[in-house]
Amino acid sequence: MSIRLAIFAALAGAAAVAVAQSGEDLRRYFEEGRKVAGQFARDLGGELRRELEATGPMRAIIVCKFSAPEVASSLSRMTGWRVSRVSLRTRNPALGQPDLWEQRVLAEFDRRAQGGEKAETLEFGEVVVEPGGRFFRYMKALPVERTCLQCHGPAEALSPVVKERLASDYPFDKATGYSVGQVRGAVTIKRPL
Ligand code: HEC
Repeated sequence: MSIRLAIFAALAGAAAVAVAQSGEDLRRYFEEGRKVAGQFARDLGGELRRELEATGPMRAIIVCKFSAPEVASSLSRMTGWRVSRVSLRTRNPALGQPDLWEQRVLAEFDRRAQGGEKAETLEFGEVVVEPGGRFFRYMKALPVERTCLQCHGPAEALSPVVKERLASDYPFDKATGYSVGQVRGAVTIKRPL
C-alpha cells in the first residue's frame, strides 16, 4: 500500500478528516463553542456545589446522573448542535463513550495536563468532514476539582454510602481514582456546517 493510501485508510478509519476553513469563520465557531461549553460547565458545577452543600453526595449523584444530560439536551435544543460530555474512563459507558475523534482529543488533553498545562485551559476545535457531513467539532476539558473527589477520587477514599450506590448503579464504573488537576473528561460539541 502506498503511503498516501495508508494515510487515507487511517483517516477513513477515524471517519473524520480535518479540513481548512477561513480563519475568520473558525475564530467565530471557536468562540461560540467555548461559550456553550462554559455555560454547560457552569450550570452543572453550580448545581453540583449547591446539592453537595445542602444535602451531601447522595443527592448530588442525582445531579451528575440526571441534570448533566438535561443541561446538555437543553443546550442542544437552544443551539441546534450536539452537546454532551465524554471521558476516557467512563462511569456510564452508555452516555459518556467518546468516538474516535474525541478519544484522540482526550488523549491529547491528558498528555498536555501531564506536561504541566492547567486542565481548565485545555480546549481544541477543528472543522472535520465525516460521512454524515461537515462539522465544527470542539472540546473543552472538565478538570477534576476537590468537589469531584467525593465521587471520582480514589476508591478507598469514597464514603461507604457513595461506594455502595455507585457499585449498584454502575457495575462498569471506571471513573474513580482521579486526583485534583487531572482531566476528568470534556464537554464535546458537534455543530453541523
Ligand atoms: C455526588 C457524586 C458526584 C460528584 C461530586 C461528581 N460526579 Fe461526575 N458523575 C457522577 C455519576 C453518578 C456519573 C454518571 C452519570 C450518568 O449516569 O450518566 C458521573 C459522570 C460524570 C461524567 C460523564 C462521563 C462518565 O464518566 O460517565 C463526567 C465528565 C463527570 N462526571 C465529571 C465530573 C466532574 C468534573 C465533577 C466535579 C466538578 C464531578 N463529575 C463530580 C457522580 C458525581
